[in-house]
Amino acid sequence: MTSDAAAACDVVRRSIIELCAEDHRDDPGILQWWLENKTAANFELWIASQRNVALVVEREGQIVGFGLMDLKGVIALMYVSPDARFCGVSKALLSALEDAALAAGVREMKLESSNTALRFYRSAGYIPDGEPRHEYCGTFCHPMSRQIGRSA
Ligand SMILES: CC(C)(COP(=O)(O)OP(=O)(O)OC[C@H]1O[C@@H](n2cnc3c(N)ncnc32)[C@H](O)[C@@H]1OP(=O)(O)O)[C@@H](O)C(=O)NCCC(=O)NCCS
Repeated sequence: MTSDAAAACDVVRRSIIELCAEDHRDDPGILQWWLENKTAANFELWIASQRNVALVVEREGQIVGFGLMDLKGVIALMYVSPDARFCGVSKALLSALEDAALAAGVREMKLESSNTALRFYRSAGYIPDGEPRHEYCGTFCHPMSRQIGRSA
Protein backbone atom coordinates (compact mmCIF):
# COMPACT_ATOMS: atom_id res chain seq x y z
CA MET A 1 0.00 0.00 0.00
CA THR A 2 1.29 3.45 -0.81
CA SER A 3 0.53 4.45 2.80
CA ASP A 4 3.45 2.17 3.78
CA ALA A 5 5.88 4.20 1.69
CA ALA A 6 7.41 6.39 4.41
CA ALA A 7 7.86 3.55 6.91
CA ALA A 8 9.23 1.18 4.27
CA CYS A 9 11.65 3.86 3.12
CA ASP A 10 12.88 4.32 6.72
CA VAL A 11 13.49 0.58 7.09
CA VAL A 12 15.45 0.41 3.84
CA ARG A 13 17.55 3.45 4.69
CA ARG A 14 18.36 2.09 8.17
CA SER A 15 19.12 -1.32 6.74
CA ILE A 16 21.60 0.15 4.27
CA ILE A 17 23.26 2.42 6.83
CA GLU A 18 23.38 -0.02 9.75
CA LEU A 19 23.67 -3.46 8.12
CA CYS A 20 25.56 -2.91 4.88
CA ALA A 21 28.81 -1.43 6.22
CA GLU A 22 30.73 -4.24 4.51
CA ASP A 23 29.61 -2.60 1.25
CA HIS A 24 29.67 1.15 2.02
CA ARG A 25 32.51 1.07 4.58
CA ASP A 26 30.88 4.09 6.25
CA ASP A 27 32.08 6.20 3.32
CA PRO A 28 29.84 9.31 3.23
CA GLY A 29 30.07 9.55 -0.58
CA ILE A 30 28.98 5.96 -1.11
CA LEU A 31 26.19 6.33 1.43
CA GLN A 32 24.93 9.48 -0.26
CA TRP A 33 24.96 7.75 -3.66
CA TRP A 34 23.19 4.65 -2.28
CA LEU A 35 20.56 6.57 -0.33
CA GLU A 36 19.91 9.30 -2.89
CA ASN A 37 16.86 7.69 -4.50
CA LYS A 38 15.57 6.11 -1.26
CA THR A 39 12.95 8.76 -0.62
CA ALA A 40 9.37 8.35 0.58
CA ALA A 41 8.17 9.89 -2.69
CA ASN A 42 10.04 7.27 -4.75
CA PHE A 43 8.76 4.46 -2.53
CA GLU A 44 5.23 5.68 -3.15
CA LEU A 45 5.81 5.53 -6.92
CA TRP A 46 7.49 2.11 -6.80
CA ILE A 47 4.75 0.63 -4.60
CA ALA A 48 1.97 2.09 -6.75
CA SER A 49 3.44 0.90 -10.07
CA GLN A 50 1.45 -1.85 -11.80
CA ARG A 51 4.76 -3.21 -13.05
CA ASN A 52 5.98 -4.03 -9.53
CA VAL A 53 5.21 -6.34 -6.66
CA ALA A 54 5.94 -4.65 -3.32
CA LEU A 55 5.74 -6.56 -0.05
CA VAL A 56 6.20 -5.60 3.57
CA VAL A 57 6.75 -7.74 6.65
CA GLU A 58 5.19 -6.38 9.83
CA ARG A 59 5.99 -7.23 13.43
CA GLU A 60 3.76 -5.85 16.19
CA GLY A 61 2.28 -3.36 13.76
CA GLN A 62 5.65 -2.04 12.59
CA ILE A 63 7.18 -2.60 9.16
CA VAL A 64 10.40 -4.58 9.59
CA GLY A 65 11.05 -5.70 6.03
CA PHE A 66 10.45 -4.50 2.48
CA GLY A 67 10.80 -6.26 -0.87
CA LEU A 68 10.31 -4.90 -4.38
CA MET A 69 10.31 -6.92 -7.59
CA ASP A 70 9.19 -6.32 -11.16
CA LEU A 71 6.84 -8.70 -12.92
CA LYS A 72 9.76 -10.35 -14.74
CA GLY A 73 11.13 -11.65 -11.43
CA VAL A 74 13.89 -9.08 -11.02
CA ILE A 75 14.26 -8.18 -7.35
CA ALA A 76 15.20 -4.52 -6.98
CA LEU A 77 15.11 -4.14 -3.19
CA MET A 78 15.01 -6.52 -0.24
CA TYR A 79 15.84 -5.06 3.12
CA VAL A 80 15.27 -5.96 6.77
CA SER A 81 15.17 -3.60 9.73
CA PRO A 82 18.25 -3.81 11.98
CA ASP A 83 15.75 -4.43 14.80
CA ALA A 84 14.62 -7.68 13.17
CA ARG A 85 17.81 -9.11 11.70
CA PHE A 86 18.18 -12.89 11.49
CA CYS A 87 14.58 -13.51 12.54
CA GLY A 88 13.45 -14.95 9.21
CA VAL A 89 12.24 -11.67 7.68
CA SER A 90 14.31 -11.84 4.47
CA LYS A 91 13.64 -15.55 4.08
CA ALA A 92 9.90 -14.85 4.30
CA LEU A 93 10.15 -11.92 1.87
CA LEU A 94 12.17 -13.89 -0.66
CA SER A 95 9.80 -16.83 -0.53
CA ALA A 96 6.77 -14.55 -0.96
CA LEU A 97 8.41 -12.74 -3.89
CA GLU A 98 9.22 -16.08 -5.52
CA ASP A 99 5.59 -17.18 -5.04
CA ALA A 100 4.39 -13.93 -6.63
CA ALA A 101 6.81 -14.39 -9.53
CA LEU A 102 5.63 -17.95 -10.09
CA ALA A 103 2.03 -16.75 -10.11
CA ALA A 104 3.02 -14.21 -12.78
CA GLY A 105 4.50 -17.00 -14.92
CA VAL A 106 8.15 -16.24 -14.14
CA ARG A 107 10.56 -19.19 -14.08
CA GLU A 108 13.81 -17.43 -13.25
CA MET A 109 14.47 -14.97 -10.45
CA LYS A 110 17.20 -12.39 -10.87
CA LEU A 111 18.84 -9.91 -8.52
CA GLU A 112 22.05 -8.09 -7.79
CA SER A 113 23.29 -8.87 -4.30
CA SER A 114 25.27 -6.66 -1.98
CA ASN A 115 28.37 -8.19 -0.39
CA THR A 116 26.37 -8.20 2.84
CA ALA A 117 23.61 -10.42 1.48
CA LEU A 118 25.71 -12.79 -0.66
CA ARG A 119 25.78 -15.62 1.88
CA PHE A 120 22.02 -15.27 2.41
CA TYR A 121 21.19 -15.58 -1.30
CA ARG A 122 23.64 -18.45 -1.81
CA SER A 123 22.01 -20.41 0.96
CA ALA A 124 18.62 -19.67 -0.63
CA GLY A 125 19.76 -21.40 -3.84
CA TYR A 126 20.85 -18.38 -5.90
CA ILE A 127 23.91 -18.82 -8.09
CA PRO A 128 26.23 -16.28 -9.76
CA ASP A 129 24.83 -14.98 -13.04
CA GLY A 130 27.80 -13.09 -14.47
CA GLU A 131 30.79 -11.28 -13.08
CA PRO A 132 30.50 -8.93 -10.08
CA ARG A 133 29.62 -5.47 -11.37
CA HIS A 134 31.45 -2.37 -10.19
CA GLU A 135 28.91 0.17 -9.03
CA TYR A 136 30.35 3.23 -7.36
CA CYS A 137 33.64 4.07 -5.69
CA GLY A 138 34.78 0.49 -5.16
CA THR A 139 31.38 -0.99 -4.38
CA PHE A 140 30.33 -4.13 -6.20
CA CYS A 141 27.08 -5.93 -6.74
CA HIS A 142 26.81 -9.60 -7.63
CA PRO A 143 24.34 -10.68 -10.35
CA MET A 144 22.57 -13.85 -9.21
CA SER A 145 19.70 -15.97 -10.41
CA ARG A 146 17.64 -18.97 -9.44
CA GLN A 147 15.32 -21.20 -11.41
CA ILE A 148 11.95 -21.52 -9.74
CA GLY A 149 8.93 -23.75 -10.21
CA ARG A 150 10.82 -26.92 -11.04
CA SER A 151 11.68 -29.71 -8.69
CA ALA A 152 15.43 -29.97 -8.11
C1 LIG B 1 21.98 -10.94 5.48
C2 LIG B 1 20.49 -10.60 5.46
C3 LIG B 1 19.99 -10.45 4.00
C4 LIG B 1 19.73 -11.78 6.10
O1 LIG B 1 18.36 -11.44 6.20
P1 LIG B 1 17.61 -11.55 7.62
O2 LIG B 1 16.19 -11.15 7.44
O3 LIG B 1 18.39 -10.78 8.64
O4 LIG B 1 17.79 -13.07 7.98
P2 LIG B 1 16.89 -14.37 7.81
O5 LIG B 1 16.61 -14.87 9.18
O6 LIG B 1 15.73 -14.16 6.88
O7 LIG B 1 17.90 -15.34 7.06
C5 LIG B 1 18.90 -16.01 7.76
C6 LIG B 1 19.95 -16.39 6.76
O8 LIG B 1 20.86 -15.31 6.61
C7 LIG B 1 22.15 -15.86 6.35
N1 LIG B 1 23.05 -15.40 7.39
C8 LIG B 1 23.14 -15.81 8.66
N2 LIG B 1 24.12 -15.13 9.29
C9 LIG B 1 24.65 -14.29 8.39
C10 LIG B 1 25.68 -13.33 8.44
N3 LIG B 1 26.38 -13.10 9.54
N4 LIG B 1 25.95 -12.61 7.34
C11 LIG B 1 25.26 -12.84 6.19
N5 LIG B 1 24.25 -13.74 6.10
C12 LIG B 1 23.96 -14.46 7.18
C13 LIG B 1 22.04 -17.37 6.37
O9 LIG B 1 21.85 -17.76 5.03
C14 LIG B 1 20.78 -17.58 7.17
O10 LIG B 1 20.12 -18.74 6.80
P3 LIG B 1 20.32 -20.08 7.68
O11 LIG B 1 19.90 -19.68 9.07
O12 LIG B 1 19.42 -21.06 7.03
O13 LIG B 1 21.78 -20.37 7.60
C15 LIG B 1 20.18 -9.30 6.26
O14 LIG B 1 20.46 -9.50 7.64
C16 LIG B 1 20.97 -8.12 5.81
O15 LIG B 1 22.07 -7.86 6.21
N6 LIG B 1 20.37 -7.31 4.97
C17 LIG B 1 20.99 -6.07 4.53
C18 LIG B 1 20.31 -5.54 3.33
C19 LIG B 1 20.81 -6.18 2.08
O16 LIG B 1 21.99 -6.31 1.84
N7 LIG B 1 19.83 -6.56 1.27
C20 LIG B 1 20.07 -7.13 0.00
C21 LIG B 1 20.27 -6.06 -1.00
S1 LIG B 1 20.66 -6.85 -2.52
